[in-house]
Amino acid sequence: MSYSIAIDGPAGAGKSTIAKLIAKKKGYIYVDTGAMYRAMALYFIEQGIHASEQDKISAAAAAVDVTITYENGEQIVWLNGRNVNGLIRTEEVGKMASSSSVNKDVRKKLVELQQALASKENVVMDGRDIGTCVLPDANVKIYLTAASRVRAVRRYEELKAKGLECDLDVIEKDIIDRDYQDMHRELSPLRQAEDAVLVDSSDMTIEQVADAIIDLCDKGAG
Ligand code: DC
Repeated sequence: MSYSIAIDGPAGAGKSTIAKLIAKKKGYIYVDTGAMYRAMALYFIEQGIHASEQDKISAAAAAVDVTITYENGEQIVWLNGRNVNGLIRTEEVGKMASSSSVNKDVRKKLVELQQALASKENVVMDGRDIGTCVLPDANVKIYLTAASRVRAVRRYEELKAKGLECDLDVIEKDIIDRDYQDMHRELSPLRQAEDAVLVDSSDMTIEQVADAIIDLCDKGAG
């Protein structure tokens, strides 16, 4: 039986950084499910489909091919055979991913892919519905959050470090809007699973959060 750690939480809580670190420490595979929703979203944008055109999104989701491979521990997302890792981290793609992830055909296809990965490998999987829907029997479930201002400041620092102009209040508003959309959709909305452990990283370093989660794994919690 493979072992799984599910990490859910709102945008910018540090899920991917933490999940990657835990995967490295434990020798597990890191599965970034947001990247899969982003790859599909990129396809919808490229096809000129608007977020409100649910029928077109369903049809396109059925036709598109999203796959995942690993190179030196890095997840690569392939969209119709094209490596799209370098194209999916924009705000535009993030917003479209949030909007198109309400679609049941999009979710069904990606949840199946995620479950297939977790059935073969020990995984640390992060997203919005991993503990509640994708891996309801995960060995450890974490709901990782932080105050919206803290999450916005982290994002602001990242963009600044890349030399990009940005406004902290706009970033915080975008984060709050995206959380609202992800928490209030009909299908598998973002919420803490009943058996998930809540971790608030507002006043914790990355190492402290990773160590706390590994501690929970060693104790068999969650
Ligand atoms: O984690 P992220 O910002 O890369 O995710 C982008 C969007 O994809 C997020 O706003 C909602 C959606 N998503 C989802 O619905 N379910 C997941 N398991 C992961 C992401």
